[in-house]
Amino acid sequence: MIPTSTDPSTVAEAAAILRAGRLCAFATETVYGLGADATNADAVLSIYETKGRPRFNPLIIHCADLAMAETVAEFSPFARKVAALWPASLTLVLPARPNNGLADVATAGLDTVAIRIPDHPIALDLIRAVGRPLAAPSANPSGRLSPTTADQVRQGFGGRVPVLDGGPCQAGVESTILRIQGERLVQLRAGAVAREEVERALGVEVAVAAGDAAIAAPGMLASHYAPNAQMRLNSGPREEEAYLAFGAAPQFAGIVRNLSPSGDLREAARNLFSMLHELDAMGVGTIAVAPIPDEGLGEAINDRLRRAAAPRG
Ligand code: TXA
Ligand code: MG
Repeated sequence: MIPTSTDPSTVAEAAAILRAGRLCAFATETVYGLGADATNADAVLSIYETKGRPRFNPLIIHCADLAMAETVAEFSPFARKVAALWPASLTLVLPARPNNGLADVATAGLDTVAIRIPDHPIALDLIRAVGRPLAAPSANPSGRLSPTTADQVRQGFGGRVPVLDGGPCQAGVESTILRIQGERLVQLRAGAVAREEVERALGVEVAVAAGDAAIAAPGMLASHYAPNAQMRLNSGPREEEAYLAFGAAPQFAGIVRNLSPSGDLREAARNLFSMLHELDAMGVGTIAVAPIPDEGLGEAINDRLRRAAAPRG
């Protein structure tokens, strides 16, 4: 029998697990994170073991507030302006502060660090209760779909990882990652905050990292976020396939889920991983996916769909 963990029922219980150097998954507004004390190398190593991550890739460091973030990274005046958008589904890559206490395995020994302050009351309470930054990749086995509910985390790890349940995730895709270079912003990963939204909020252009400039990391591997089913994109459904629709759906006798009947990209992002999980649980062979407009949050949705459809290694 698979040993099962006991889920914490309070933030204090979850914080005690993390402070003891063990893993605890927790809700954020983007996806569930597999959390570890980022200052504890053994704890961070168990993240890689538990996820079956092939390499030591740098992890996002979750902080409760700017004061905590400033213990970890150097903030220029420009970086502080961008950081004023926190708490948000936005991760900033900044120069690491020397002797910041983070385990090298958490940052893969880089001289930069990816930080975010999540926009979720339970996540914030948890980090505050632990009193240390938390390293937290999505709480799924490497390469698989990111979880947007506590049950998906339990299923993914066979009940071996305790989960602090905070309900279904509101955003449903991972955070947008921006590198700050002087007074320029470069998007390394499209995510739950649309590029245009950052540009509007700050009045600064956000460039998109091209090919090799993009980070070498699991989220950047061609095949990632993959369901068990095969995926066929930008298409209507064929017989025997399941259909993941967007907006007005064609008549179809088979299994259909609609990311957003009204064509709302925010709703579609929120439903994306959940509906893929659901179709997978039904054991469907192929999922055909409707075209999604490549603007706003559509950029992140299409990125995740392309990776889910990519040839598997
Ligand atoms: O929404 C999210 O961001 C979720 C939730 C749980 O907060 N977390 C998440 O974390 O997706 P993670 O650790 O899987 O994200 C890692 C991404 C990778 O693509 C990695 O390369 C990038 O962050 N990253 C981390 N440190 C970096 C650095 N110093 N420079 C560039 N990219 C970095
Ligand atoms: Mg992930």
